Amino acid sequence: MSETIKKLAVLTSGGDSPGMNAAIRAVVRTCAFHSIECVGVYRGYEGLIEGDFEPLDARSVKGVINKGGTFLKSARSKTFRTKEGREKAYQNLKNENVDGLVVIGGDGSFTGALVFNSEFNFPVMGIPGTIDNDIFGTSHTLGFDTALNTVVDAIDKIRDTASSHNRLFFVEVMGRDVGHIALNAGIAGGAEEILIPEEDLGLERLVDSLNKSKTTGKTSSIVIVAEGDKIGKNIFELKDYVDQNMEGYDVRVSVLGHMQRGGAPSCFDRVLASRMGVKAVESILDGETNYMVGLNNGKIQLTPLEKAIKGKTKINLELLRVSDIMST
Ligand code: F6P
Repeated sequence: MSETIKKLAVLTSGGDSPGMNAAIRAVVRTCAFHSIECVGVYRGYEGLIEGDFEPLDARSVKGVINKGGTFLKSARSKTFRTKEGREKAYQNLKNENVDGLVVIGGDGSFTGALVFNSEFNFPVMGIPGTIDNDIFGTSHTLGFDTALNTVVDAIDKIRDTASSHNRLFFVEVMGRDVGHIALNAGIAGGAEEILIPEEDLGLERLVDSLNKSKTTGKTSSIVIVAEGDKIGKNIFELKDYVDQNMEGYDVRVSVLGHMQRGGAPSCFDRVLASRMGVKAVESILDGETNYMVGLNNGKIQLTPLEKAIKGKTKINLELLRVSDIMST
């Protein structure tokens, strides 16, 4: 273990996700375990630039493992994209005698961390936190599992009212670039169709499939739409299209929105956050830098930050096939 690292900083950046608090807790307690200091940075890179720091010890993170959001708060910082902003951040870290930085966030946050390291040779370590699960180098990002459970719960409730009224519902879920939430929650919620950014189903096939469902005796249907899907119409336009082009469907729209980002983290996300926090701190203490901690085949492993940023997650083709068969 490194003798030179005596104090670490931790921040959360970008869109929040359930499990971020559990990850901060794990970072803080691992620092305490190894008798090094830890400081929390408020509002992500904004707080780094403004010097908004608070010392955290093992007891400062009591009662947070079960809380959604992030008590350190999060932000998307424009100033950190400037050299002057990063210079200020570096000075603040030096003034506080911080020797390394743990960044909990998504690929934008990791890009900032990598630039920061290349300019100041400052040790950085990433923990993937986003509900979208769109980070290369980990099968699961923090918050993905919780968000799936939230979405499935919402679909189940929508199903109750859809079937009572024989209605077709378009349900929009988050995922501006990827369809992981839509595909997984869609299968679990028994959706008739799932529209994702990775695959353009096309309006004709959508209508065909809905018609087929009707002729095979389905009286209500749920179509899950990822917000970034490529069908070329937003969810309200989709409703209008079906209203105009299909007979006998009473169509409604439900946009789940930011409720998907909140709520108590699932058991899976709490355990994952704890494992990732321990690995992040111990890796920095082992002299590693510019890595992201990830989960691969059940093991916690490091992926170079550059790979994590540049790599693309792939949609699981087997899941696509399962969803096709299930909507028969
Ligand atoms: O956290 C990622 C994400 O949930 C995306 O799926 C979504 O498009 C975006 O955040 C919305 O974030 P905000 O409202 O913070 O801009």
